[in-house]
Amino acid sequence: MASSGQPRIQWLGRWGFVLAATGSAVGLGNIWKFPYITGEYGGGAFVLVYLACILAVGVPVMMTEIAFGRRGRGSPIDAIRRVVSESGRSFGWSLIGWMAMLCGFMILSFYVVVAGWSFSYLWKMLTGGLTGSSVDDMAAVFAANNANPWVLGGWSTLVTLLTMLIVGKGVQEGIEKSVSWMMPGLVLMLVLLIVFGVFSGGFGDAVRFLFSFNTGSLSSAGMLAALGHAFFTLSLASGAILTYGSYLPKGASIGRTTVSVALADTVVALMAGLAIFPVIFANGMNPGEGPGLIFMSLPLAFQAMPLGTLFGILFFLMLSMAALTSSISMVEATVSWLCDNKGITRPVAAWSTGIVLWLISTLAMLSFNMGADWTLAGRHFFDWLDYLTSRWMMPLGGLGMVLLAGFVLNSETFRDELGLAPLPYTLWLTMVRYVSPLGILVIFVDALGLYQVSFAQHWPWLLTILVVMMAAGEALSPRLRKALKPA
Ligand code: PHE
Repeated sequence: MASSGQPRIQWLGRWGFVLAATGSAVGLGNIWKFPYITGEYGGGAFVLVYLACILAVGVPVMMTEIAFGRRGRGSPIDAIRRVVSESGRSFGWSLIGWMAMLCGFMILSFYVVVAGWSFSYLWKMLTGGLTGSSVDDMAAVFAANNANPWVLGGWSTLVTLLTMLIVGKGVQEGIEKSVSWMMPGLVLMLVLLIVFGVFSGGFGDAVRFLFSFNTGSLSSAGMLAALGHAFFTLSLASGAILTYGSYLPKGASIGRTTVSVALADTVVALMAGLAIFPVIFANGMNPGEGPGLIFMSLPLAFQAMPLGTLFGILFFLMLSMAALTSSISMVEATVSWLCDNKGITRPVAAWSTGIVLWLISTLAMLSFNMGADWTLAGRHFFDWLDYLTSRWMMPLGGLGMVLLAGFVLNSETFRDELGLAPLPYTLWLTMVRYVSPLGILVIFVDALGLYQVSFAQHWPWLLTILVVMMAAGEALSPRLRKALKPA
């Protein structure tokens, strides 16, 4: 059990939690993934669905996680165990906490590799190593970067070291201090990049691309991607937000804080789109380029423009910082659990976690070179980590948490911890009981490959299922509670 003698450390500043949680949320997901999936799935229509997913699933799940953290004042495992014991429920529920902690760790194992790409491109931009005149040349640079395990491993090792250095210094001295300058710096750089975009000649096209809500271009695959991405971009069910929530002072409003973080995350994703797409369009490139969009098309586009190198440097510096403020949040759950339960100091906890992480991430990194042939069921180790976490562990952990909060625990626990007025509370409850679970179930149906849900075609069915779930849930829930009550 966690040491309960000492009160838990808390964020020092008023903005400590918001900055750290926004730092966690804003990362490669916003700047690397969001623009390219928006490009792949056709722009504005995708953006609209994504916003709906953030509101209907992301915000309620995030509120639930923060409430678990603050109520239980511990790592995901300890916090969930304390909260369930308060309601007299089984400790078995803390398995959700174990999964969340593992999930954060697994994400970081491949995240450091992608973050390493960003750092290496920053270096290439600084030293003029990115020369080439076509997308094919850029693809060759990218391939060469990945083909050498020493180079690729060197960069991901650097990310691991920086992450552990910050986390090892502690919640206030390490995490809070670093996000308090990195986050404003990141926003400043993003604004400068948008200004550059405005003068690039492609800004109008970019705005039209991102904000023309043409529902005709909406595919079911796009909707699923939007739903899955809502989890990833808000750092949900991976221990990060819950653990940061465990340092949140009692007086802070969870609802308001969550909305600030979700809003900031969304605004940064859209701003990243407004920084990247003008440059892409101004150079007549394809926005649907896929994962290589910012590592191949973008550097080439920057090269072709006056002051492009300077802004290219700014871009990769911003991306590297965004990745780092996310990385630190992914191991905080593990480090906090080790400190609380194993009686070791924070630096020891951080560096020992770092060693294990380094070993696993090295395996992930090798997927791009020496281990290119090591596949299982058609997936490399790197892809397995991504697939298992984003398709299964995050949605499953989210589902467990909302069902636990919505049906299993005493209703007073969350009413008290969230401190909401009756109407917003009812809204939250409806979301965690029905809307979020339905959204998550759709992800599973798709991941199992059982059936391709087409939202455009099946929305009457989905609505019917939702109504039936609500009726059954409301009719059963008091009985459900009684049935689950220990004798
Ligand atoms: N939200 C981060 C991003 O968008 C990724 C992340 C996932 C961070 C899970 C912490 C936990 O890049």
